[in-house]
Amino acid sequence: MARPAPRQNELCGRWEMKEKLGMGGFGIVYLYQHLDTSERIALKLCRLGLSDKNKDRWSREIHIMKKLNNVNVVQARDVPEDLASVALNDLPLLAMEYCTRGDLRKMLNKPENCCGLKESEVLSLLSDIGCGVQYLHENKIIHRDLKPENIVLQEVDGKIVHKIIDLGYAKDLDQGSLCMSFVGTLQYLAPEVFEGKSYTVTMDYWSFGTVIFECICGFRPFLHHMQPVQWISKVKSK
Ligand SMILES: Nc1ncnc2c1ncn2[C@@H]1O[C@H](COP(=O)(O)OP(=O)(O)OP(=O)(O)O)[C@@H](O)[C@H]1O
Ligand SMILES: [Mg+2]
Repeated sequence: MARPAPRQNELCGRWEMKEKLGMGGFGIVYLYQHLDTSERIALKLCRLGLSDKNKDRWSREIHIMKKLNNVNVVQARDVPEDLASVALNDLPLLAMEYCTRGDLRKMLNKPENCCGLKESEVLSLLSDIGCGVQYLHENKIIHRDLKPENIVLQEVDGKIVHKIIDLGYAKDLDQGSLCMSFVGTLQYLAPEVFEGKSYTVTMDYWSFGTVIFECICGFRPFLHHMQPVQWISKVKSK
């Protein structure tokens, strides 16, 4: 059954909707705060009208998130009982720790970062996301959509910690160790995926490298003024 989207300051039991944190093709993420304890959580709702295939994708994301536990991957939480009724449809909700400093795209968009982030920030990102990706791969999961929008920043004891989010395209390698499906975001997509070849965890290395390049330089590698379909043939012939 469809319900209206939550509005700012709307109460759901003792939880108040504070703001919309972001939205993508499938999900909308809201910040909720508890009136008594001030606890904050990020709540991801599934948008309406998904195909059966995408409904499966949604449920898989929640299933994978719940079994992960690493400081560089956003932590899933139990959905508070009061908030269960916020769902726009009959699909489950994903509750997560709220990362207060927004996503990496927001950082890159700041005018002072137009030529890239500071060296210390890049090193911290490299180490954090490197650990997060390694953890996913050790747990036989390929993320398949690493990009600045899917990395969030959390402040812990005055220090910034980077965390991976959005496992919507993640692939559990227990279901077969080579993948063929065309998923991800073109600008960060590995050539083997473009070419329709089978791929494995290496796909994440390419995207991770592309993100790091962009954070160092302020622009993406590979003829960033062109669309990926235009530059892919040039990259292939290298
Ligand atoms: N835990 C969080 N803390 C703070 N901000 C978040 C959190 N999770 C998501 N966001 C914000 O919401 C945006 C969208 O989240 P996410 O990438 O999970 O959804 P999506 O892109 O809609 O996912 P999908 O690809 O499944 O459609 C992120 O880019 C980020 O800005
Ligand atoms: Mg996303």
